[in-house]
Amino acid sequence: MKALILSGGKGTRLRPLTYTGAKQLVPVANKPILWYGIEGIVAAGITDIGIIISPETGEEVKSWTGKGDRFGAKITYILQDTPAGLAHAVKIAQPFLGNSPFIMYLGDNLIQNPLSPFLEQFTQKQLDGLILLRPVENPTSFGVAVVGDNGRVLQLVEKPQNPPSNLALVGVYFFDNTIHEAIANIQPSARGELEITDAIQQLINTDKQVDACTLDGWWLDTGKKDDLLSANQIILDERSTYNVEGDVDPQSQIIGRVKIGRGTKLINCTVRGPVIIGENCHLENSFIGPYTSIADAVNLIDAEIEHSVILSEAKIVNINHRIVDTLIGRRAQLTTAPQRPKALRFMLGDDSQVELT
Ligand code: G1P
Repeated sequence: MKALILSGGKGTRLRPLTYTGAKQLVPVANKPILWYGIEGIVAAGITDIGIIISPETGEEVKSWTGKGDRFGAKITYILQDTPAGLAHAVKIAQPFLGNSPFIMYLGDNLIQNPLSPFLEQFTQKQLDGLILLRPVENPTSFGVAVVGDNGRVLQLVEKPQNPPSNLALVGVYFFDNTIHEAIANIQPSARGELEITDAIQQLINTDKQVDACTLDGWWLDTGKKDDLLSANQIILDERSTYNVEGDVDPQSQIIGRVKIGRGTKLINCTVRGPVIIGENCHLENSFIGPYTSIADAVNLIDAEIEHSVILSEAKIVNINHRIVDTLIGRRAQLTTAPQRPKALRFMLGDDSQVELT
């Protein structure tokens, strides 16, 4: 069994952050989204992992993620020159995949359920494909499935205007080698891509057995700001622990599950968990509220923030109104003059600067 993780694409829905970086490397609780997928795959016992990368962000994905040692895996990088679709990614990964069955995992998806039970079902029933589904309120934004009583998939449509059900395709799929022939027999869709949804439909049309499992745990497709903030909230909620390695002065108060990295200094701050703060940050006269992730080397002075994600080297100074539901990119700077506005809501890209005067 191998794994193929897709970490290409342009990340248009997370712009401007993704102008300068891969969406799969945006951190959730200070860890790149992509790494959660890798860890989940390794936890299911699969260590031979191919990662599809794009010319734009591939080098960054490679240099952050490495050859797989840190995960106990062996990672092979596969370059997809153009974002020509998920099935196209499988096509170009064929030399890596060979005849092996594989799990295909979209690198910006996070699921709560462990993968092993699905893998077991796929292997034991000798399926040609197994897809994961989750009921959603907006099926028109996803691939949508119709499933028979026996769990067999009857029909799949990609982003239908009139959805035949509310069951969305989660970005995690299990395939045997019959998928390659199916992909060879499909045409690009209206959006010009070779769709994996069409390839699975092709399997169904040729009487291959494709089953579906419905997820009972949460599923987050982190491609957008609010989804990313929800993912951050859920991961902090579930996995936060108390671990203060930084330097906290006696005037500061740490409440609940708070992680503070080495070299970080807190002067006269209140931190109410669950919160994670990286290394080498400087936090002074500030309140950091629940569900906030602050990456390394961030400066926060005279600021109040909660339910937000702050990337490395950002600087926030003198914002006494509470910053909420916010995503701030690397090296972004946010400072105000003394007369302050009443409400602030931001999505700021890397290198941006905001001055409210
Ligand atoms: C892709 C798939 C879609 C699936 C979704 C899950 O959509 O084409 O079927 O429901 O991932 O994240 P995309 O994110 O490329 O729009």
